[in-house]
Amino acid sequence: MGKYIIAGNWKMNKLPSETYDFVKEVAKATEGAKCEVVCCTPYVCLAEAVRAAEGTHVKIGAENLHFEDKGAYTGEVSADMLKDIKVDYVIIGHSERRQYFAETDETVNLKVKKALEKGLIPILCVGESLEEREAGITMDLIAIQIKKAFAGIEAEDAKKVVIAYEPIWAIGTGKTATAEQAEEVCKGIRDIIGQLYCPKCAAEYTIQYGGSMNAANAEELLGKDNIDGGLIGGASLKSEDFAKIVFSVK
Ligand code: 13P
Repeated sequence: MGKYIIAGNWKMNKLPSETYDFVKEVAKATEGAKCEVVCCTPYVCLAEAVRAAEGTHVKIGAENLHFEDKGAYTGEVSADMLKDIKVDYVIIGHSERRQYFAETDETVNLKVKKALEKGLIPILCVGESLEEREAGITMDLIAIQIKKAFAGIEAEDAKKVVIAYEPIWAIGTGKTATAEQAEEVCKGIRDIIGQLYCPKCAAEYTIQYGGSMNAANAEELLGKDNIDGGLIGGASLKSEDFAKIVFSVK
């Protein structure tokens, strides 16, 4: 439906000194890809990643940003700083940030707005915990996450946001959502977007799946109507594995 995007989320892995060669490796291994290829790296790796990606098809993203423009926010990084070093994407609201770093639906909304204002493409993460799934409230919870993240964002801007459905119970656990479970929620997300904006434009949004996506299961997941890409953790750290996922987009 939307444009296909396969994005790696390195999380807190890889060193700045490994970054240049690895991004070059990814660029080589994914040459001829039929989708957008993105590497999201730790802040300290970004400059090297951008340098390595220059002149290739690979785009670079950050894993977070702050919603203020500048000021006394020790340890934080602004959208202008990311733009200044030519970063294109930024992950916002990853469940690890919600869980360990006090990210809320409100700060996620502020960050999505700031990214859009500054011309960064947000990859907005939503997803339920195992308890929430077992309680049968997955779609209610995701509807709240989506509605709050998009609050105050006009339709023209909203469609620049990439949405990543990442069930928390599938992240780093080796437990992938079945293709049917992933499709059901991604379709649900598209329906919510359709209600918020317009049903017709909902088809233009990129909705990714993330959570133990790998070379073996990518093709089935990416074959579903409402899954337009992946946000890949562990399998993005080896260029061959990542490339296999990229080439699962036919
Ligand atoms: P894994 O692919 O390691 O499960 O991580 C998924 C993820 O959190 C990507 O943002």
